[in-house]
Amino acid sequence: MGAFLSVLAVMGALLSLSGSPVITHPPTIQFSSKPAILAVKRASGDSEDDDKKADRLSYRALLQARCPSLFTEFKPLWWLFNGHMQTLYCVFGDFSKRDRMSYLRKTIRVADGGTLGLDFAPVDQASLKEDTPIVIVQHGLTGGSYEPYVRAVLSHACASVAEGGLGYRAVVINFRGCAGIPITSPRLYSAGHTDDTRNALAYISQQYPNARLLGLGFSLGANVLTRYLGEEGEATRLHSVCALGCPWNLKHNNQGLLNTFVGKHIYSKGMGGNLQNLLRKHRQEITADPTHHVAVAANIALALKNPTLGEFDESFTRIAGGPPPHFPFANSDDYYVWGSSDKVIPQIAVPFLGINADDDPVVTRVPLESVENGLVAIRMTRGGGHLGWFTAGDGFVDRWTTQPVLEWLKLMGEDFIIERESKAAKMFVDEDGWLREEGRPHLGSKYLNQTLVVDGNHGESGVLQGL
Ligand SMILES: *[C@@H]1O[C@H](CO)[C@@H](O)[C@H](O)[C@H]1NC(C)=O
Repeated sequence: MGAFLSVLAVMGALLSLSGSPVITHPPTIQFSSKPAILAVKRASGDSEDDDKKADRLSYRALLQARCPSLFTEFKPLWWLFNGHMQTLYCVFGDFSKRDRMSYLRKTIRVADGGTLGLDFAPVDQASLKEDTPIVIVQHGLTGGSYEPYVRAVLSHACASVAEGGLGYRAVVINFRGCAGIPITSPRLYSAGHTDDTRNALAYISQQYPNARLLGLGFSLGANVLTRYLGEEGEATRLHSVCALGCPWNLKHNNQGLLNTFVGKHIYSKGMGGNLQNLLRKHRQEITADPTHHVAVAANIALALKNPTLGEFDESFTRIAGGPPPHFPFANSDDYYVWGSSDKVIPQIAVPFLGINADDDPVVTRVPLESVENGLVAIRMTRGGGHLGWFTAGDGFVDRWTTQPVLEWLKLMGEDFIIERESKAAKMFVDEDGWLREEGRPHLGSKYLNQTLVVDGNHGESGVLQGL
């Protein structure tokens, strides 16, 4: 499979060299009819004085000026000519030698007994300033910091300015049980639950109180970050979010997958199988007390034969994807309705950029019609699949999204002028050494240990791993 794809890749690269990027149709970027007016440092900011001068631009004009790549057309590699090919290349392509990353992993215990693994990059943290912007990454369904789509951005964002990078710090918040993180409480994660993000952000911003935190979410992780923004409103600790392949409407997607043969048997069962594998890996910890309702659900979910995503969520995620009072849900549809992120768009209080593809086989409804928030923009590409966006480039297969995302991170990390007051909850360390947020007794975290993840490039293997 790998060799076959490599041959195709070389052919694809040769053929696509001949075409120059001519925009044949206007890119779709949806803004509110009343885009916010935002302040940004003057482009010629080479003296201290210039730095203090601000331009005030509408959100649209700001992105046009500072994220020009966002307005270029996505041109798929000719041999990845539709959303299925783009999506499957995500899974079967060989990215092992590209964008290699190592991470410094800090584990923290959170208030419910769970363990979070925060992967910091670059490994040499000493060379960074305390206020260096931090890219906060949340990955897809059963992924981790090793995912090629994560590395594709971080290898540039965390490279030094001298090496042509942004020189930023990054922290990947791995979901519970993913990327080698142990399960230490009877609970996994879900598309809707945001307290792990909340605890991680509190921990990170206590460590780096003067750094801008720039959210970058992929697929399920994009949904979680978007919901976090909606729930927190003005109290968010994130200064911006970029959401790639956000699923937006979980119920609609689940039904959409079941409507086609490929959707049901390839994608839905692929994702259901990945979740089942993840659960199987942690069976012992999660069923330690077999009478616990999560253990009962786990045993039922593990007994399913080739479950679809919906079947897995019906038997497990709706029960174990978060804490009471929301969990357990009566059925997976209730969980999907609760956990969707399209409905929180009006509450987003910081600049937000979504990028979705119009042929994404997994995400079939993008809420372009409900972008009524001046701080929200959604770029809908023609083609790209689910987290694909493979195009011809320097590395012969590049992701179109890398350049706009890096421009966005630089804009939000350095040039955008934050004029709002932080309304984030105040933090304190209690007598037992837990980091707490005022008025939020159910939250809290405690540092556990630190390890070096030298090979941050290989993850779990499984059917459709990488979605
Ligand atoms: C760090 O803590 C985690 C969670 O308790 C544990 O699984 C892991 O073994 C610890 N690692 C080290 C190096 O102590």
